[in-house]
Amino acid sequence: MTQVPAFAVVSGAQVHEAVAGREEQVTRMVEAAYRLHGEGLTVNPDSYFLRFPDRPSDRIIALPASVKGDVGVHGIKWISSFPGNVAGGIPRASAVLILNDADTGYPFACLESSIISAARTAASAALAAATLADARGDRPRRVGFVGAGLIARYIHTYLAGNGFTFDELGVHDLSAEHAEGFKEYLGRSEKGEITIHDSAESLIRASDLIVFATVAGEPHVHDPAWFAHNPLVLHVSLRDLSPEIILSSYNIVDDVEHCMKANTSPHLAEQKVGDRDFVAGTLYDVLTERTAPPADKPVVFSPFGLGVLDLAVAKYVYDQVAASGALHTVPGFFHELKRYG
Ligand SMILES: NC(=O)c1ccc[n+]([C@@H]2O[C@H](COP(=O)([O-])OP(=O)(O)OC[C@H]3O[C@@H](n4cnc5c(N)ncnc54)[C@H](O)[C@@H]3O)[C@@H](O)[C@H]2O)c1
Repeated sequence: MTQVPAFAVVSGAQVHEAVAGREEQVTRMVEAAYRLHGEGLTVNPDSYFLRFPDRPSDRIIALPASVKGDVGVHGIKWISSFPGNVAGGIPRASAVLILNDADTGYPFACLESSIISAARTAASAALAAATLADARGDRPRRVGFVGAGLIARYIHTYLAGNGFTFDELGVHDLSAEHAEGFKEYLGRSEKGEITIHDSAESLIRASDLIVFATVAGEPHVHDPAWFAHNPLVLHVSLRDLSPEIILSSYNIVDDVEHCMKANTSPHLAEQKVGDRDFVAGTLYDVLTERTAPPADKPVVFSPFGLGVLDLAVAKYVYDQVAASGALHTVPGFFHELKRYG
C-alpha cells in the first residue's frame, strides 16, 4: 500500500543552520534549477499577485512550481511584501513554502521561507555576476549597492561566497540610517574602502558592479550616460531603471515571459518599443554559451524570480534537516486516510 508521508515543519532557525556558510552549495543548487528550467524539466506558471485596494504598496505573491531531475518535487512559495514593516523594526518580507511529494501530491513539509527566498535571490544574482563577469573576462573590484536592506546583505554574502573580492564598496540608500547600518555590516568582513554616496549617480559612476535592491515601484534612474563605463548591473528590484537605460544595454533575464510583466523595467521597455528584441537571452543561454556579454555596453541582469529556485533550495534544506535527524513532524497531520472509515 502507498504510504502517506509524514508532515514536517521547518523553522527559520533550522533553515539558517542549513544554508549559512554554504553559499557555494546553494549557488550550485540554483544553477542546477536554472539548467533544469532551460531544459524544459520544470513547470513554472505565472506568479499570482494578491493586492489590496486600501494598501497599494503591500502584496502577497503565490509562486507555484514543479521541478523534475534531482530535485523532484512540486510546491508553492507564499510570500508577503509589506514595506511598512521596516519602520516598525521587522523585515519587509515574510514567507512560507510548501513542498509536495511528486508521486502522491501530498504536502510533506512547510518551511519558513524568507531565508530561502533571500538565499535563492542572492545565489541567482551571484551566479549571474560570476557567469557574466567571467564571460567578459574580468571580475569587477568596485561594487555599489543601491538599496541597503536584507536582500542587499544576502547578495553581498553570496558574492563573497562565490569568490568576489572588492577594493571599493559603495552604498546609496534613501534612508541615511539604512546606509549607515549596511556600511557597518560591510565593515565587519570587508577590508576595502567603504563609501556612502548621497546620490545614485555618484554611486553608479564609481562602481563596475551595481546591485539594485530597493523597493522602488517605478524608475528613479533615468540617464544612460551614468552607465557610460559599461558596468555589470544586478537589477534585482526590477523597477529602478528607465526604459532608455534598458534599451541601451545588453539585457539578460531569468525567464523572458515572466519578466515582461508587472511593470518591471524590461516590461516598460517592451511597452515603449513594441517588441522584445532588446533582450539578448536568459541566464541559461549565458550558462550554455548561446550568447556572450559584450565589453562595450552596460550588462543588465533582471531576474523576475522563479519559484523553481525556491523549490530547489527548499528541498536542499529539507534534505539537510532530515539527514541531521532534526526534522519536526506533526503526528496525525493527515488523518482521514481509510476510504470507508
Ligand atoms: N527579483 C527577485 O527575485 C527578488 C527576490 C526577492 C526580493 N526582491 C526585491 O528586492 C528588493 C529589496 O528587498 P529587501 O527585503 O532588501 O527590502 P528592504 O525594505 O529591506 O530594503 C530596501 C531598501 O531600499 C531603500 N530604498 C527604497 N527606495 C530607494 C531608492 N529609490 N533609492 C535608494 N534606496 C531606496 C530603502 O530605504 C531600504 O533600505 C525588493 O524590491 C524586493 O521585491 C527581488
